[in-house]
Amino acid sequence: MKGLILSGGAGTRLRPITHTSAKQLVPIANRPILFYGIDDMAAAGVTEIGIVISPTTGHEIQEAVGDGADFGVTVTYICQDEPLGLAHCVLISRDFLGDDDFVMYLGDNMLEQGLAGFVAQFKDVRAAAGTPQLGKGPSAPPSAQILLAEVADPTSFGVAELNDANEVVRLVEKPTNPPSNLALVGVYLFDKAIHNAVAAIEPSPRGELEITDAIQRLIDDGHTVVHDVLSGWWIDTGKKDPLLECNRLVLDSLEQRIDGDVDADSVIEGRVVIEAGATVINSTVRGPAVIGAGSVIDRSHIGPYSSIGVDCRITRSEVDNSVLLRRSSVTDIPRLTDSLIGRDAEVERDQRRPRATRLMIGDHCHIGLE
Ligand code: G1P
Repeated sequence: MKGLILSGGAGTRLRPITHTSAKQLVPIANRPILFYGIDDMAAAGVTEIGIVISPTTGHEIQEAVGDGADFGVTVTYICQDEPLGLAHCVLISRDFLGDDDFVMYLGDNMLEQGLAGFVAQFKDVRAAAGTPQLGKGPSAPPSAQILLAEVADPTSFGVAELNDANEVVRLVEKPTNPPSNLALVGVYLFDKAIHNAVAAIEPSPRGELEITDAIQRLIDDGHTVVHDVLSGWWIDTGKKDPLLECNRLVLDSLEQRIDGDVDADSVIEGRVVIEAGATVINSTVRGPAVIGAGSVIDRSHIGPYSSIGVDCRITRSEVDNSVLLRRSSVTDIPRLTDSLIGRDAEVERDQRRPRATRLMIGDHCHIGLE
C-alpha cells in the first residue's frame, strides 16, 4: 500500500498566512499540520509516500519534509502546476502510484483516530471478499473505502447518501440540499480502479476534478465503495477557527516538559512545554501551552491553549487560545485571544499621542479591535 498526501492548493481561506507559506505547514502545537499526517501514515505501515505540491509553496514543503528519513518513510514529490482538484492530483500521480492500492490524505486535515485501523480494515475487507463465503462464491472486493463524519453544516463538504442497507449509493460535492449530514473526511483508500474514474470525469462548477465525482463514477461503474464512520474528532484546518480548535485538541494531550529557563519569579501551571532555549521571566504560563525554542516571555501571562512558536517575544501582555508563528512579537497588549499571528508579525500598543490605531497590514488580513 502506498500513500498520497495532497499538499497543493491555494489556501485562500487562511490568507494572509498562506500568501507566503503553505497551509499544510501552519503549526499545530508548534508542529506543521502536515507532519501529523506523515506520522499517521508511518504508524499505519505506509512508508512509500507521494506528496503533491504546488509550484508556489512546494519548495517550502520539500525543505521541511526532505526525503522523509526523519519520519521513517521515503517521499516522492509530485508537482501540480495548477490547483485543478483532488482527482487531478490522482491523475498526475499515476506513475508514482502504479497499480498499487493507496491511501490518500488531505494534508490540511487532522483526525484523532489515526490511519492504522482504517488501512487495516480495507486490507481485511479486500482479503475477505476474495474468499468464498458459506454457500456463496467470492464477492467482488471493494475498490474504495471512504471515511464519513456527521457534521452540522454539510454544504461545504462532499456528502454521502446511504441506503437502508447502509451502503453508499450517492456522493455529491458541496450540495445546496445535502442528502445527509455525513461529510467525506479527507482520507480515502483506493485500488487501481480509481485511475479510470479520475480520467472519465469532467470538471465541477468550481473548475476542479472532484474526487467525490470520481468515487461516484466508481459506484456508477458497478464497483463497491465501502465506508466507515469516524470515531474521535476530525478537523479540516483550512480556516482560522477550526485551526485554533485543532490546536486546542492537540495541546490537550500534552505532557509537561520544561527544558527552557524559567526564573524564580515565574509560575508554570499544568501541562506546559517550554523548549530548550526559551526564557520565561516574571511571567505565568498556564497550560496546556507550548513555548518554542528561542522565545522570550517577559512580564506576561500565557493562558491555556497557546502555541508560541520559535523565537517569539511576548512582553507585558496576556495571550491565550492563540497560535503565534515564528519570530512574531506581542508587546503591551492587555489581552490577545483567539488569534493566529503570522511569521515576523508585530502586535504592539502604540503609546504616541493622539491615541489612535495605527496599522500597516498586508492583503487579506482580519483585525478584530476591542
Ligand atoms: C475537500 C473535498 C470534500 C471533503 C473535504 C474534506 O473539500 O472536496 O469532498 O469533504 O475536502 O476536508 P475542499 O477542502 O477542497 O473544499
